[in-house]
This record gives sequence, C-alpha cells and structure tokens, in this order.
Amino acid sequence: MIERPLTLNQSQRIILWPTRVELSAPAGTPLRDLLFDQGVEFPCGGQGRCRGCRIRVLNGKAEVNRAQQERLSPEEIASGWRLACQCVVEGDLEIELRQWDAAILVDDTVFAFRPRQGLGVAVDLGTTTLVAQLLDLATGRVLAVSTALNAQARYGADVMSRLHFAVLGGGQHQLETLIRQQIGALIEQLLFSAGKHGAEIADIVVVGNTVMHHFFCGIDAEPLAHYPFEPAEGGLQPFRSSALGWKHAGDPLVRFLPCLGGFVGSDVLAGILATKLLEHDELVGLIDLGTNGEIVIGNKDGLLCASTAAGPAFEGAKISMGMRASTGAISQVTVIPLLSEEGTKGWCSRDRVHCHVIGDGAPRGLCGSGLVDAVAAGLELGVIATSGRFSNGESSWMLAPPVALTQNDIRELQLAKAAIAAGIKLLMQRKGAKELTRLYLAGAFGNYIDRASAQGIGLIDFPPERVEAAGNTALLGAKLALFSLDSEDGSYVGVRRRVEHVALNADPNFQDVFVEELAFPQATPTSIN
Ligand code: FES
Repeated sequence: MIERPLTLNQSQRIILWPTRVELSAPAGTPLRDLLFDQGVEFPCGGQGRCRGCRIRVLNGKAEVNRAQQERLSPEEIASGWRLACQCVVEGDLEIELRQWDAAILVDDTVFAFRPRQGLGVAVDLGTTTLVAQLLDLATGRVLAVSTALNAQARYGADVMSRLHFAVLGGGQHQLETLIRQQIGALIEQLLFSAGKHGAEIADIVVVGNTVMHHFFCGIDAEPLAHYPFEPAEGGLQPFRSSALGWKHAGDPLVRFLPCLGGFVGSDVLAGILATKLLEHDELVGLIDLGTNGEIVIGNKDGLLCASTAAGPAFEGAKISMGMRASTGAISQVTVIPLLSEEGTKGWCSRDRVHCHVIGDGAPRGLCGSGLVDAVAAGLELGVIATSGRFSNGESSWMLAPPVALTQNDIRELQLAKAAIAAGIKLLMQRKGAKELTRLYLAGAFGNYIDRASAQGIGLIDFPPERVEAAGNTALLGAKLALFSLDSEDGSYVGVRRRVEHVALNADPNFQDVFVEELAFPQATPTSIN
C-alpha cells in the first residue's frame, strides 16, 4: 500500500503495471508527460475523446474530471479506470496500463450452436489475463468484449507464487475477493459497452486453471501447494451471482466449469470442446504453453491429459530482460542470410539477426515468443551449442541494444522446453503413438510462437505444417458450454468422463526423459538458396 502524506514539490512514486517500472515526479506533473516517455500512445492527442489512454488506478488517487465522466462508465470509474491524458500526479500512484494489454487474445471464431433466448457471458480467467465476452444467445453474436490483467498479479506473477501467498501468507480470502470483484466489474463493463446496462443475463460460464478455480470458488488451495498436487474439490461450482457479491439483474447462475485433475483445469476442458479433440479418428493433441504446460493427447476413443511445471520462461519471467508481449517487447527474431563475397551460398554471422519490436518503438525487453526465436536463431547461427552454452564462452548475446540474451535465460528456456517435450513424449508412449496428425497450440503464447523455432529448439518435435495455433480455446469452449447448459448432462460433463488425468510427477521415467530433453537439437545453418 502506498501511504505517504503529500507535500508540495516532494517527488511522488509512480509504479506501472505490468512492467513494474518505477518512476518519480513532483505532484502536479501531467501523467501524459510521464507515460509518453514510456512508449504509451495518446491516440487523440490527449483530448480526452478516444479512451485509448485508459489506465486503472491500483493504489493511490487520481481525480475524475468532466471529460472522464463523459467517456467512462460509472462502473469503470468506480473500479479505478481513468484517462491518463486527463490526470496529474497527486501523490504516490500504482497504475495498470490498458494499452499494454494489446496482446490479450480474444476469440471471434464462428461456431455452430443451438439458439436459446437471452444474454450469456463467457469468462476466461487466466493467471495473467482475463477475457470476458457478452453473447446474444439467440444469434451467437458477440456483443461486447472486456479484457484486463488479473488483479491478483500483484501477489505473484505465476500460480506457484500466488499459491505461496494464499497458503503461507494467509492471503487466499484476499485473492478470492479481488478476483470476484474484478470479474463482476468486467461483466458490468460488458453490459455498458453493449448498451445493455441493467439488462438480465441468462447464464455466466467461467473457465480457468485449477488454482484460479480454487481461488475464485473459495476452495482451500492448500492441497495444490504440495505433492501430489491434487485439487481438494475440482468439480463444477455453481453460484448465484448475488452470492459472489454481484448485482446483476435476474441473479443469473454462474458456473465455474470442472477441472480435469491436478493442475489441468477447465480452461483445458474448454479447449477440448473448442478443438473437438474427441471427434478425431487419428491421434491428435492440444498444448497450452504457460507456467504450467498442459498437454492432451488422444482421439475419439479417449484422451490423456497432464500438466508439467514449465516455469515462467514462456511468459518472459525469470528472463534477464523478460517482459510480457506488450509495447517494446522483442516478439520475433529472424536470421538474415548473408551472401558470401562470391555472391553464392553463405553462412550467417552472429549479428545477422533482425528483431521485431511490438509497437515498432525502441526495444525494452524480450517476451516468450522472442525468447524462443532468439535461441532458435542462436542455434542456427552456431552462437549457441546444443548443450545450451554460448559457443564462444561469453555470458550474453546482444540482440538489439539494450536487449541481450544471457546464459541464464537459455538455461531457463531449456528447463521449460524439456518439461513440455518430456510430457508430450510420455503421453505419446502411453498412447502407443509414434506421431500426431495434428497438434493444436492453445492460448496467447501458442498463437504467437513461431512453429519452426519451436521445432528448432526441440520444444515441439513435429513438422510445422501439422502444428496449428488454435487461439483462445478456453474462451471459445466457455462460449460453447453456454449453449449446452440446459441439458442435465451438458457437453462439458461428457468430455470430463472421457479424459484420464496422468500425474507426470509420479511417473518413474519422467526425470530421465526430462534430462534427455534438456539438450537442443542439432541445427541446420541458414544458407541462401
Ligand atoms: S489520448 Fe484520447 S482519451 Fe486520452
């Protein structure tokens, strides 16, 4: 909490989320001046007309002027939203920048459904981000979308640190209150944006990983913090909206869909619905790459699912210059082939890489997809050996100043990719599968990762043409579930019965396969054809 009395000319502390950048400025400084230097854009030139500079005040105070009253709903203002171009520094401040949420993946898939009357809300409750959509259940049309960073992030970036805060720090109730309030406000925003403020909602479906399920539903998360990491109660959790402290007309039923076991939550169950894994004759797979990598393999005869602790590397955490996929992040690294003096085939030198920066501004860090690309490029150029060490014995490789890849970053990626690759291998062995005809990559990271780079580092050992970015399958599955809630045996219930959870941490072969998978594959040097 920020609590310091304001004195004139005293420098105030401003913390920006999600980058955690700390700035200082005297009271009276326009926020616009401060944020402009951080790469924040002001689309209408700071006139207070476009809402493009929205921020959310997490701690501290920012006055609401008339322009903000006209552009923001009363619910948005109550939940801390402001227009940065209209605010000045009044005291210490902690803010979340809406603009940096640009990479939150929503869903606009067209799908078949059985129409029903009313409005429905689907919510994908992620560890990092939240996405909610309001649907007209008669037409299947998405009427509004709301996204936000998970407000629990201030108590830990990943599920393990949040579990630590909940279990050892006694903060579970705090996390529960925070997330319920945030999702309630998100739903209000949806109604407001669709011009349906105060309208009745028929049903609300929420999906999320097992830890989010426990935090939202108020189930003791302690069993998830230690071996065998099994949920205390992973089933479907229904609530009346009023029981969650929400005041939605009609007091709709809110269903948090059931988990599949261990750390495999209803986001994966929804992903199975969205990708129709249970309708395939051939063996197929679904992977959600995150702090916990979730893997599903099988076909119409049944599915195996597992989770594996990949660590936070794919999300840019624990990486020396790691950051989320937002403005200033290097999201792609490509090798530029170099012609030899003769103008025929030639090899690339170590500095022949091109870095794409989100927002096209100056690089500030490296996000997960950029990290995978950078290591794949390093292997291709011979800068990185298959052991993961820099071939020349140096400790870092400058990609685009000031962003460099360090030896420790490579190590973190090796741990993450080995955990996923080992999980895939063991599930395939159990299914007696030599190959998969299709592999769906779920989630934001799966959407942005370069499939050739993923193969290049040995993360996904399948030809890129068989690997398909499936988008936000959790949100799509939650929307599909909205159309099958009226039957007693909703489709998600049927899916749950046909999926077997495998506890990889209890598999005696896991450690050996994991160690085997730590090395990178031998790369083929780039040449000009
Ligand atoms: S820049 Fe347009 S509202 Fe602030």
